[in-house]
Amino acid sequence: MEFDFATPVERRHPSDGHWPSQKWHRYGDDVLPLWVADMDFASPPAVIEALRSRVAHGVFGYGLVPDSLRETLCDWSAEHYGWAIEPGWQLWLPGVVPALHMASLALTEPGDGVLTVTPIYPPFLRVAERTGRRPQQAALQAPAAPGEPWRLDLAALEAAITPETQLLLWCQPHNPTGRVWTREELAGLAELVERHDLYVVSDELHCDLLLEEGAHHVPLAAAFPELASRTLTLWAPSKTFNLAGLTTACAVIPDAGLRRRFAAGVKGLQPDGNVLGLVAAEAAHAHGEPWRQALLAVLRGHRQALVERVAGWPGVTMSPPESTYLAWLNLREAQGLEGLAGSPQLRLLERTGVALSDGADFGWPGFARLNFGTTASQLEAALARLDGVLC
Ligand SMILES: Cc1ncc(COP(=O)(O)O)c(C=O)c1O
Repeated sequence: MEFDFATPVERRHPSDGHWPSQKWHRYGDDVLPLWVADMDFASPPAVIEALRSRVAHGVFGYGLVPDSLRETLCDWSAEHYGWAIEPGWQLWLPGVVPALHMASLALTEPGDGVLTVTPIYPPFLRVAERTGRRPQQAALQAPAAPGEPWRLDLAALEAAITPETQLLLWCQPHNPTGRVWTREELAGLAELVERHDLYVVSDELHCDLLLEEGAHHVPLAAAFPELASRTLTLWAPSKTFNLAGLTTACAVIPDAGLRRRFAAGVKGLQPDGNVLGLVAAEAAHAHGEPWRQALLAVLRGHRQALVERVAGWPGVTMSPPESTYLAWLNLREAQGLEGLAGSPQLRLLERTGVALSDGADFGWPGFARLNFGTTASQLEAALARLDGVLC
């Protein structure tokens, strides 16, 4: 089946005119937005059809998580990740970011340490402070040479751990670098987590966007069963199927005690399920695979276009992302930005009208994140503008 990832969907001025988006309405009309992590593609036709049918029902009272949804996630997990999860392990939630905060509240005490790595998706850096815990961070190891991967620095992670550390906020695949951690890196992490008796929240939101042909995601708790009793795994259809506005995610918690503790700790802090989000999640998992495969082919092409483009920008480096539709650019030595004041993100916004995400928000000033989850024509228009300054 053919899917259309080429025709732009009007998001700046949709025909009804009153559906603003964060991506398209944060900046002026002349700005091309390659920042926040949503894509400019319509969701899979099967998802839209399921939503249409649910909307036609017309009643939107409190819903329940249907058994059929739980089963589709079990099937998806077994088929895609080789992990046999159970329906009862699933706690459906309004989002992954809320779940990060809820985990901090439910599993740690005020003053405990909440650890993460940098660079990282910005909300990770706020969880500890917002929940009255102690923020703890360890930097990843930057690429040894241009194009080489970012790596997990276990020594730095260990050095950041104190007796107060209780929780690790982990991200795999990793936003913003797109790293898919190796088994070896993860084995080191697992050993460290056990030795320091930490809980882990493994944010695996981007796990269905592995870009290498034939690559398979392995959830942290599946790769290291010894971690399963201390790990919450977070999944959602929101990135893969472009459903972020339907605020639906799932925490998979195999251990009954941990599940009870988390559920008790978050009581009253979350709304009941979004009935449309639950419908969309089920349709995506049940019928979205052909669309996802087509999407991956498009994203691989966009990644390649970007790699070629960045090669022509003196002083700019990027490790090609192994997953996600996000690219992490090192602009610290960008020759085209020499002598200009302000962050590279701001300088590029002012001079090219292309909006990227500022690396400082991820803990690494001088970097920027570029979202290539858009049509080829829009990506090309933005890259042509960036050429104007960076070439
Ligand atoms: C790693 C990661 N976690 C969480 C989120 C946000 O998840 P949610 O919208 O479900 O809160 C994002 C969005 O970009 C993300 O990249």
